[in-house]
Amino acid sequence: MSKNVVIIGTQWGDEGKGKIVDLITDKVSSVVRFQGGHNAGHTLVIDGQKTVLHLIPSGILRDHVECLIGHGVVLSMSALIKELGELDEAGVDARSRLKIAPGCPLIMPYHVALDNAREAKRGKAAIGTTGNGIGPAYEDKVARRGLRVGDLLDLKAFSDKLKDVVEYHNFALTQYYNAPALDFDTVLAQALEQAKTVIPMITDVTEQIHQHIANNENILFEGAQGALLDIDQGTYPFVTSSNTTSGGAVTGSGVGVTDIDYVCGIVKAYTTRVGGGPFPTELVYDVAIDKGDAIGKVLGTVGHEFGATTGRQRRCGWLDMVTLNRSLKLNAVTGICLTKLDVLDSLESIKICIGYDLNGQKITTPPYDAQGYADAKPTYIEMPGWKTSTIGTDSFDSLPIEAQNYIRKIEELSGLPIDILSTGPDRNETLILNNPFKE
Ligand code: GDP
Ligand code: IMO
Ligand code: MG
Repeated sequence: MSKNVVIIGTQWGDEGKGKIVDLITDKVSSVVRFQGGHNAGHTLVIDGQKTVLHLIPSGILRDHVECLIGHGVVLSMSALIKELGELDEAGVDARSRLKIAPGCPLIMPYHVALDNAREAKRGKAAIGTTGNGIGPAYEDKVARRGLRVGDLLDLKAFSDKLKDVVEYHNFALTQYYNAPALDFDTVLAQALEQAKTVIPMITDVTEQIHQHIANNENILFEGAQGALLDIDQGTYPFVTSSNTTSGGAVTGSGVGVTDIDYVCGIVKAYTTRVGGGPFPTELVYDVAIDKGDAIGKVLGTVGHEFGATTGRQRRCGWLDMVTLNRSLKLNAVTGICLTKLDVLDSLESIKICIGYDLNGQKITTPPYDAQGYADAKPTYIEMPGWKTSTIGTDSFDSLPIEAQNYIRKIEELSGLPIDILSTGPDRNETLILNNPFKE
């Protein structure tokens, strides 16, 4: 029997999804991205060589894998062409194995302009977006005015629609945001040029996926961002604009809920967040001035916690079981993949947040809004550290007992098994305890 596995981030992104997707694609015929866009930054390290992917599925480094971009993804042709160029340079032939759904909303230059104008206007309350036009592109989709990849198949109609949309957004840009207008002719000329690369890749991705299922082939669905950035369930408004939870794999690709056999929840052994918004277990440290919490500094430095897309410093803190347990439910996680355990190697002791104190009340479920999170004071349990290197551990039993206890504690608090353990960035620094594709 073939299996369909979804991989999603359970925190605020950057849990190590790309590494795990690349690792277990040895067992699949195709990898499908189903939401988000080039706001994602997925890092793959193979024998020390690093590749960062934003839009192209993390199966691309395996020659036998077909890479599919489902209609839930917002597609920037500029970002796609840049990434294809980078892969060309690295000698990876992506073009013949990449297929794009006609239903993907296009991210156009006015989306980027709007994203940046809005963030500037928000000032201190800025979301800290990637500035890639993700939110405005999803808005155009929901408003039913957006251009889609399939529109490129009729360039005359594309050009007519584009004229209206540019006019509409130029009004907001100039009249509301006091920003410069975009020139329609320039936007059109650039899109027509870029379309030449994209058009040959347009495929009925939904049908393609169902063909693979009919052929009894394994498929991997690759999530972007993390559950706490989900537009509906995340720390609104400090979220991204798509459904980052496992349900997004269904709506963003064209399979049904019962087609999914296993959901792998990627959990970083601590927590990070990039951009604005509440973060109850944060250990505040500012790398620019080298000031703040000493453990926050260790996590950020040892874990190289800098954004793979924007280069921004990622905020770091302890593992938070309140948000994590909610996240595991939202995604119907089957098994956990715990990553970056090695980053904790030097710590004397390690904390896990097991509840919040909210205005004098003890709670173990997350508040419903960003203000609630901002007011929540975490309560912790503390466990001894192991102060030994775990990098590249090749068996569970050879881990120091304190590390085994930390892992067992997470299993106990979540009620789920840890099926994969990652103890280093490299593809082979991983312990697969229970392969999601196992029959
Ligand atoms: P993604 O967005 O979820 O794919 O994660 P990112 O690639 O943005 O960030 C994860 C970072 O951690 C990358 O730099 C990875 O190379 C690195 N990484 C992944 N797993 C491990 C691990 O187990 N240990 C260490 N030290 N680094 C890891
Ligand atoms: P991967 O797939 C971490 C964050 C941004 C910002 C918020 C909204 O690598 O885990 P957007 O540009 O999406 O409108 O920004 O979401 N964000 C991410 N944070 N990892 C990501 O992707 C992210 N993609 C978006 O920093 O706070
Ligand atoms: Mg990332």
